[in-house]
Amino acid sequence: MHFSKLLFGLVGSASAIDVYFHSADNCNGAAIVCTGLNPDVCCTGNSPSVAYRGVPTNWHINAQGFSNGGCGSPKWLADLNGQNWVCMVANSRPNYTGSRYWFVSRRRAEGTCSAGCTEQAKPDTLVLEDGVTKYDIAGLDDDKVEELFAIANSGAGPEAFAEIQTRRK
Ligand SMILES: *[C@@H]1O[C@H](CO)[C@@H](O)[C@H](O)[C@H]1NC(C)=O
Repeated sequence: MHFSKLLFGLVGSASAIDVYFHSADNCNGAAIVCTGLNPDVCCTGNSPSVAYRGVPTNWHINAQGFSNGGCGSPKWLADLNGQNWVCMVANSRPNYTGSRYWFVSRRRAEGTCSAGCTEQAKPDTLVLEDGVTKYDIAGLDDDKVEELFAIANSGAGPEAFAEIQTRRK
């Protein structure tokens, strides 16, 4: 009884936040995704909008979108307290180049990213414009990812991705 409650609690608090760099404004179009991003880790990309999806609704987090290279210059700050997603839309600043999140109401020792957070993650998944076709892009070099993302941005379907067919998820 106690054990199953504990197990449920652990499963319920597992990190499942996916951060999408979308090729179009308003979180539309193809995307490259950091799946299961941990707090205080900067997911890097380059696109006009960024979506957080799968945010546990019992978490209170702040998510920051940055421009100017990685988590360089703050561009958008989102407060999620019960919402399972948010879209950081385009604004007058250049493309989003990085994003990370942190917990709002926990003790500092559990990780509130102020200055000095330097850990980065690269997107591990490419999602096509149809929103359902996904490829594993982990370990590909940056130029290759940029090239594949550009093809996806043009609205291409799975037929354009024969070279990474074996990486389809
Ligand atoms: C902004 O992002 C889009 C979509 O990824 C890309 O096509 C474009 O080249 C980017 N702009 C710059 C200035 O990097």
